[in-house]
Amino acid sequence: MSHAFDFTTVPALTVRQGAVQALGALLAERHTPGRLCLITDGFLHRSGLLAPALDNLRDTGWDVLVIDDVVADPPDHVVQACAEKARRHGAALVVGLGGGSSMDVAKLVAVLAASSQPLAEMYGIGNVRGARLPLVQIPTTAGTGSEVTPISIVTTGAHTKSGIVSPVLYADWAILDAALTLGLPPEATAATGIDAMVHAIEAYTSVRLKNPLSDALAREALRLLAANLIAVCTNGQDIAARERMLLGATLAGQAFANAPVAAVHALAYPLGGHFHVPHGLSNALVLMQILNFNLPEAHALYAELADCIGAPSVHEGEHARAHDMIAHMEALIDATGIPRRLRDVGVAQTDLPMLARDAMQQQRLLVNNPRPVTEADAAAIYAAVW
Ligand SMILES: NC(=O)c1ccc[n+]([C@@H]2O[C@H](COP(=O)([O-])OP(=O)(O)OC[C@H]3O[C@@H](n4cnc5c(N)ncnc54)[C@H](O)[C@@H]3O)[C@@H](O)[C@H]2O)c1
Ligand SMILES: [Fe+2]
Repeated sequence: MSHAFDFTTVPALTVRQGAVQALGALLAERHTPGRLCLITDGFLHRSGLLAPALDNLRDTGWDVLVIDDVVADPPDHVVQACAEKARRHGAALVVGLGGGSSMDVAKLVAVLAASSQPLAEMYGIGNVRGARLPLVQIPTTAGTGSEVTPISIVTTGAHTKSGIVSPVLYADWAILDAALTLGLPPEATAATGIDAMVHAIEAYTSVRLKNPLSDALAREALRLLAANLIAVCTNGQDIAARERMLLGATLAGQAFANAPVAAVHALAYPLGGHFHVPHGLSNALVLMQILNFNLPEAHALYAELADCIGAPSVHEGEHARAHDMIAHMEALIDATGIPRRLRDVGVAQTDLPMLARDAMQQQRLLVNNPRPVTEADAAAIYAAVW
């Protein structure tokens, strides 16, 4: 049996509390000060979180345009509008600063501002042609891991979340400053943290492209995330725990950038597309049911993750440890107090067949799942969490 594999990630990563307060000076270590576009969302811009970074950028000679048009689950027309502003500014560097939505838009802005390829031709895997502007990513949630993934998720049409996956989308530099995440409210902290845990679990059980490096990253990510999730939900100001979450989310991102995510994300996206359930929450809603669905095929791998997530060792043997892992994950989600049922987030029982149909569109993700998922399976999973 061959053990050959490929692994890719971003070329540079900086982890430093408070780094973004001196963003202009930091960026100048790698890029000549000039015209820069900072891509973020309106809430973060208005909140004042960026103010010290913007002051420092101006003081250090950067000509900054803040583009704050990003919204959660960004639609394609928002991506286009941001790219047009970046083009008009003559940007030479793009900085994404925000949650996954801001960073996903920043990736595409960096491409669209430097290439004539239409956005519509980029969907799918490996379809981005040409170059992009230099790109720096700074997450404010822990989180999507988008700062280290070659993936952008865009809402196309009215309700569909579509992926663009290309090595061109890897940033040049990811900067992790835990101070940016201190103000994230508990529910968003929980949901984004669970999203990161799902990335690690799905990467570890992915049937395609999983490899020793993605496995090592997924295990360490889960260890960091599971040990600190409740701490950051209880005391958002605990910067040491926030930093471990941020690092955990990035490591999980490096894992699933190589060993792609699967059914949890496939069934979560229709909830985001139709009902604007936040991405992490939509993952959390379907996670437990899918872990149980996958158990017959994935018990050995779930058992391996039981220690990583700190599941108390009540049982011995592979099957028992797999159950311990699932039970502990459930206990962690319970402890965060986030909504647990689809009916709690505005989904009607009559919507379930449509959700199942839409989930089947996410074949890019479903092919990675340890157990094949039919439309009837998807409908049963949604029904069980309704
Ligand atoms: N590219 C990838 O690899 C990847 C992976 C998973 C998810 N995604 C996508 O990322 C998006 C979700 O990203 P997200 O969960 O980070 O949320 P988000 O970027 O959509 O932000 C959600 C909300 O949280 C707020 N927020 C962000 N940081 C904050 C902070 N520090 N303090 C206070 N409020 C803050 C934002 O203003 C926004 O209102 C979805 O579109 C999802 O599909 C991408
Ligand atoms: Fe995710």
